[in-house]
Amino acid sequence: MAETPTFDRMAPFYERLVDLWSFGCIPRAKQAQLRHIEPGASVLYAGVGPGSDALAAAERGARVTAVDLSSKMLEAAAERFRRAGEEATFVHGDILEYRPPAPFDVVVANFLIDCFPADARPALLTALVGCLRSGGIVLVADTGLPRGSAVGRGFWHVYQGIAYATTTLQGLTSWLPKLDLRRLVEDAGGRVIEHGLLRPWRHGPVLFEHLAAVV
Ligand SMILES: C[S@@+](CC[C@H](N)C(=O)[O-])C[C@H]1O[C@@H](n2cnc3c(N)ncnc32)[C@H](O)[C@@H]1O
Repeated sequence: MAETPTFDRMAPFYERLVDLWSFGCIPRAKQAQLRHIEPGASVLYAGVGPGSDALAAAERGARVTAVDLSSKMLEAAAERFRRAGEEATFVHGDILEYRPPAPFDVVVANFLIDCFPADARPALLTALVGCLRSGGIVLVADTGLPRGSAVGRGFWHVYQGIAYATTTLQGLTSWLPKLDLRRLVEDAGGRVIEHGLLRPWRHGPVLFEHLAAVV
């Protein structure tokens, strides 16, 4: 299993940092996903990180399994669940090697795809979809594509350029991924039922995207 010292170090502050840096776009994307998660549903959080989204799903009555390569991220998520009095199954490992005991109703991958190099992303999506039952739902949120006007696309390049310069230098992501989330999910066999574009303010540039698809 590959070591993840940088994600380990970021575990205590990762979510607060990205929630602020994203102007609240990332919490909004995670909030929007909850409408696809029914009470009682089995939900896999792939690359769970500190797990505020996974906890929100558990508080809605979902049965949560959380997988992460970083032991510190997983510990942060487990501590969050413990404090909230909620339960989940926590699995330390590589999502590509994870074999579910039974197919899940929902698989969630938030800001995980951009951790993978471009040529490995199709295999990741195939692995995620492979964890689902027929008719199950895959939910992803991530950096998407530069969209809209020239000004909006320019803003995207500067904003994401700053973010990915930092994460690429730390070895967390590849340089400035332009993620066609719809294409990635459809190529893995998903039928898109929701595609949200997240802007920091009304009529502002699109900075992030989230997507729900049925398989
Ligand atoms: C950018 S963070 C996102 C965390 C969380 N999903 C969120 O949106 O707040 C990516 C997470 O994926 C985990 N990760 C990266 N590669 C992984 C892999 N191959 N298998 C499992 N987890 C992985 C990292 O350790 C990290 O916790």
